[in-house]
Amino acid sequence: MTDWYRDFANSGVGTTITKQLGLPRPAVLRRYEPGQPLLPGPALLGSAGKGRLHDVLTELLRDAGVAVVASAEEERPAAVLLDATGLTSPADLAAVREFLAPAVKRLMPSGRVLVLADPPAEAAAPAQAAACQALDGLVRSLAKELRDGSTANLVQVPAGAERALAGPVRFFLSGRSAYVDGQVLGLSPADVPAGEDRDRPLAGKVAVVTGAARGIGAAIARVLARDGAHVVAVDVPAAGQALAAVANEVGGTALQLDITAADAPSRLVGHLRGRHGGVDVVVHNAGITRDKLLVNMDAARWASVMAVNLQAQLDLTQALLDAEGVLRPAARVISVSSQTGIAGNRGQTNYAASKAGIIGMVRAWAPTFTERGATVNAVAPGFIVTEMTASMPLGTREVGARLNSLQQGGLPVDVAETIAWLAAPGSAGVNGQVVRVCGQSLMGA
Ligand SMILES: NC(=O)c1ccc[n+]([C@@H]2O[C@H](COP(=O)([O-])OP(=O)(O)OC[C@H]3O[C@@H](n4cnc5c(N)ncnc54)[C@H](O)[C@@H]3O)[C@@H](O)[C@H]2O)c1
Repeated sequence: MTDWYRDFANSGVGTTITKQLGLPRPAVLRRYEPGQPLLPGPALLGSAGKGRLHDVLTELLRDAGVAVVASAEEERPAAVLLDATGLTSPADLAAVREFLAPAVKRLMPSGRVLVLADPPAEAAAPAQAAACQALDGLVRSLAKELRDGSTANLVQVPAGAERALAGPVRFFLSGRSAYVDGQVLGLSPADVPAGEDRDRPLAGKVAVVTGAARGIGAAIARVLARDGAHVVAVDVPAAGQALAAVANEVGGTALQLDITAADAPSRLVGHLRGRHGGVDVVVHNAGITRDKLLVNMDAARWASVMAVNLQAQLDLTQALLDAEGVLRPAARVISVSSQTGIAGNRGQTNYAASKAGIIGMVRAWAPTFTERGATVNAVAPGFIVTEMTASMPLGTREVGARLNSLQQGGLPVDVAETIAWLAAPGSAGVNGQVVRVCGQSLMGA
């Protein structure tokens, strides 16, 4: 599916016309291709105050083969990293401006700004908490100012989580995070296994993806398989043919299963134990909409959306946790929520309730997963270009697609890349988080 307006705006005549009319010119985003370097140019690394992450970041960039420049004047940076840990009061923020302003001016297209900070909740004094929290507003605003497909994100790194930093930093710098913008990610201390295979981080892993017959689910199956996983693709029997096609394409297994059926948890557990001896990655992607204004919402619409989008996730996850030895240590559970679950949407009280419920579920389960060395997270897509959105009336679709900092809809692969990152061993320190894949949508911001 192509973005006709983006392609037009980037064509010779389109560039002139959009410039003259003052219309937005959405960039062609830098997206991940296996084997590509982490960044298409050098990184500029700075700190504001007594940063404690400088060595970790320097080593990480060296490992990734990224050249580090001393100033943006030397060469235009593809990424600007700021270690803003160690701030103690709002006065320290002046150094943040001083570093970022000239650096961002020289940022390459599809550039990355990544700020690393102390979590405000761990501050020793209100002035320190104020300084840490201030970065939140600064980064979200900067993300809205950047153009040409560049993004800005903030990672909060508590003391002790330094070793969990590499995977998230790599993700935010890479083309995998093309449509993740203006986000704040909180890390937790975790043991991260050494020696991850960068091209196939999921080699040897078994991954279940529900709703895999089409749309975002099929994209998730493809990306997880590309990253090395054996994919068990799950969908309803009615989608059997499409499901088999996806499973064959990715060299995986098809499992026809209505996830709301009473025996779905036992059948899934039985299949995983019997055929694969367990599971490493579970992606709860299947979801439905049954839209009506609340005043016209009948019990059936309410119940079906709740059953597929929320209750099935609770039941399947609980069954996997209860089945001795099936959910492997260091397992990853990733739930597909939605921006609608954060912002709300007219005509979608049932859908928004189910998608917000997922966020509550993930946060509540995080400590249980930590105890097992596992993680559970949610991904909340914004406007994603799928067959469903392609059939919307042009006006509604164009408004929906452009109301974000990147001025375009995301692709299913953008959601899939974020899920694959969360599924990887290097994401051990990301737990109980909600990562929006929305191009910094103005809705629910
Ligand atoms: N498309 C978007 O813009 C968007 C935005 C935010 C969130 N999401 C979420 O992303 C997920 C995938 O969305 P999509 O656009 O690819 O939808 P889609 O309708 O194209 O695909 C959903 C798949 O889930 C399957 N499914 C439905 N009920 C099932 C059940 N009971 N058991 C097993 N499988 C079942 C369907 O058969 C289908 O193959 C959903 O959870 C959706 O809510 C999508």
